[in-house]
Amino acid sequence: MKTYLVTGGAGFIGSNFIHYMYRKYDNDIRIINVDCLTYAGNLENLRSVEDRENYSFVKADICDREAIEHIFDENDVDVVVHFAAESHVDRSIRNPEIFVQTNVLGTAVMLNAAKKAWELPDGGFKEGKKFLHVSTDEVYGSLPDDNNAFFYETSPIDPHSPYSASKASSDMLVKAYMDTYHFPANITNCSNNYGPYQFPEKLIPLIINNALQGKKLPVYGDGKNVRDWLYVDDHAKAIDMVIEKGRIGERYNVGGHNEKQNIEIIEIILDTLKEMLDDSDPRKAHINRDLITYVEDRKGHDRRYAIAPDKISKDIGWYPETMFKDGIKLTIKWYFENEKWMKNVTSGEYQKYYNDMYK
Ligand code: NAD
Ligand code: DAU
Repeated sequence: MKTYLVTGGAGFIGSNFIHYMYRKYDNDIRIINVDCLTYAGNLENLRSVEDRENYSFVKADICDREAIEHIFDENDVDVVVHFAAESHVDRSIRNPEIFVQTNVLGTAVMLNAAKKAWELPDGGFKEGKKFLHVSTDEVYGSLPDDNNAFFYETSPIDPHSPYSASKASSDMLVKAYMDTYHFPANITNCSNNYGPYQFPEKLIPLIINNALQGKKLPVYGDGKNVRDWLYVDDHAKAIDMVIEKGRIGERYNVGGHNEKQNIEIIEIILDTLKEMLDDSDPRKAHINRDLITYVEDRKGHDRRYAIAPDKISKDIGWYPETMFKDGIKLTIKWYFENEKWMKNVTSGEYQKYYNDMYK
């Protein structure tokens, strides 16, 4: 039975990944979820798996070397799936240091602990071990408007925000471990994810939540920045496939082939909300395009991201399966059914963040 050490499993993608893995492998795997529960970590996301015998949760900071080494000492970990990170670009612009600490130093601690646990006296590594580093397309910087340029695995690393610079640094560290020690790892660089359990500081859940409450919908700049949206389950599937089939030492881009301007996304959400809400629902009356409010642009706002997932399709057989029109309905349905989740995460600290960010 394979043992997975998942870091950041209480966050958005990590929790979706854990659900995906149990749906696929059920009792044939073991998962240890290591998360220090920042504002973005939420054990509510994992209620339905917490009583499983093949699941355990360890509250630990990935920067805490002793705590991380202890987990490796106590468990024969086969695969590390490293999600834990500070993930929000706007927060990184306001407070870059924690991004360097978690994303760079935390990754160094994870790499070193895995190396220590897995290396053999001859300098090689035990069979079947792998470190999967989950990264982002933002490390490639920004593409120009209106052209057919794409990010490939060979594109230059050119991060602009403190967040993407910290992720690029962590990618470089993983690469250094692969190059120097032949450490068994893969890097995946994924585009924007959406789906259940996403914290409403990110565009899609923020717009859904605000629209349902009749609050303004803040659009940065001219609203024409482009992101390449991928349904989170498709990302989970890609990670599982790279673990199983990815060639050690390789980097794989993961993307939705689904480029959309931010303003288009907002309009689709408004139309879909209208379509899905009952006529008798009082919220339906206040959902309209008048809520759209153009606000000051994000500093250093990357214009366009677009991933070419050719390599992962050709070498591994992965491709994005969920059309945006279907994925957004599944996402909105989840938020309709989980109003309490949204209420809990938007009370207290979130209000302070929101007022400060959008004042
Ligand atoms: P998230 O912010 O929702 O979750 C991050 C999780 O990491 C939280 O549970 C948090 O508590 C945990 N964490 C943070 N600091 C920690 C620390 N020091 N020790 C232990 N746990 C810590 O993030 P997400 O959107 O789920 O992103 C997960 C990963 O995927 C990140 O590495 C991110 O860079 C990458 N990624 C995200 C996207 C996206 O669209 N969200 C796209 C591509 C790549
Ligand atoms: O591309 C992958 C990245 O996608 C991940 O690495 C990051 O962890 C993840 O947060 C995401 O980064 P973005 O900055 O692209 O996502 P965000 O949801 O913050 O913003 C999406 C776009 O919407 C971006 O162009 C900024 C814009 N935006 C965002 C917010 C929160 C607005 O116009 N208004 C807003 O209120």
